[in-house]
Amino acid sequence: MKRRILQILRNENDVVSGELLSKELGISRVSIWKHIHKLRELGYDIFPTPKGYRLHKSPDTPFPWEFLGREDRIHYYPTISSTMDMARTLARKGCPDFTVVAAGRQEKGRGRLDRTWQSSDGGLYFTIVCKPQIPPQLSSRMNFAASLCLAKTLREVFNIYAQVKWPNDILVNGRKICGMLSEMEAHGDLLLYVNIGIGVNVNNDPDIAEQKVTSIKNILGYDVSRQTLLSEFSDRFETRIAAGGFDTIVSEWKKYTMSIGQKVRIVTVNDEYQGLVHDIDEDGALILKSDTGALKKIIYGDCFHNEI
Ligand code: BTN
Repeated sequence: MKRRILQILRNENDVVSGELLSKELGISRVSIWKHIHKLRELGYDIFPTPKGYRLHKSPDTPFPWEFLGREDRIHYYPTISSTMDMARTLARKGCPDFTVVAAGRQEKGRGRLDRTWQSSDGGLYFTIVCKPQIPPQLSSRMNFAASLCLAKTLREVFNIYAQVKWPNDILVNGRKICGMLSEMEAHGDLLLYVNIGIGVNVNNDPDIAEQKVTSIKNILGYDVSRQTLLSEFSDRFETRIAAGGFDTIVSEWKKYTMSIGQKVRIVTVNDEYQGLVHDIDEDGALILKSDTGALKKIIYGDCFHNEI
């Protein structure tokens, strides 16, 4: 109902009477008033006049009804502990493929390797539940597809030259703008789900004292729509996954990376390695070349470019 009321108010772009809304939507004027009241509470600037209602401005909040065709798959929470936990609960309950759990802020946002993820107002924090028909060993291809599609979205929609850094960070001019974290569950050879958690610094001011970070707002100098970012990313990601061809995801991703040829330090749960990034193999593992020329395959870890 909220979506339909907003649609009418947006189409008219003028004052719309309660009577017209009630007629078009087949509900009483009192119900219309209650919905409008709720929308105003949610941040929609709807101006009541003696002649009816006029929509001035909508909040940039990823409310499900703002995503036409996806409204049943988007779950939005103004505040949540971590979108990863809710996504896991939903995935285990059998939610549909590409269900999204989004939050305005997270109280316990998680980063990779047990770090915390600053999740202040203005950023976009979401986890997407994926149920691809692939063996569990290939699940990391989903993460590569997600970072590839997010970098493409930043380039194509916002004209920001985003690059991917192994394994799944997104940087702009050497500063991190987006981080990804994934969790999966499998039964034997059957991948039950892989949940990809994505944190994008959009209109927030990430703590630059902590590490080299940036946000879309810092780069462009103005706020952008998180709704647009989420829907444009979802379009690209769902289309890429539906196209199949999982074998080519990493090679597509490599066209967007700046990691290859870089001097790096790789930190894993137990070890630390230094060397040059020789390649990223088709499974997404990093091939590190040491000073002696020896090659080492690293499947999981954090990568620090020496000059970053
Ligand atoms: C990293 O770079 O360390 C990964 C950061 C991932 C952050 C996102 S925000 C949405 C989702 N929920 C979380 O708790 N973490 C991920």
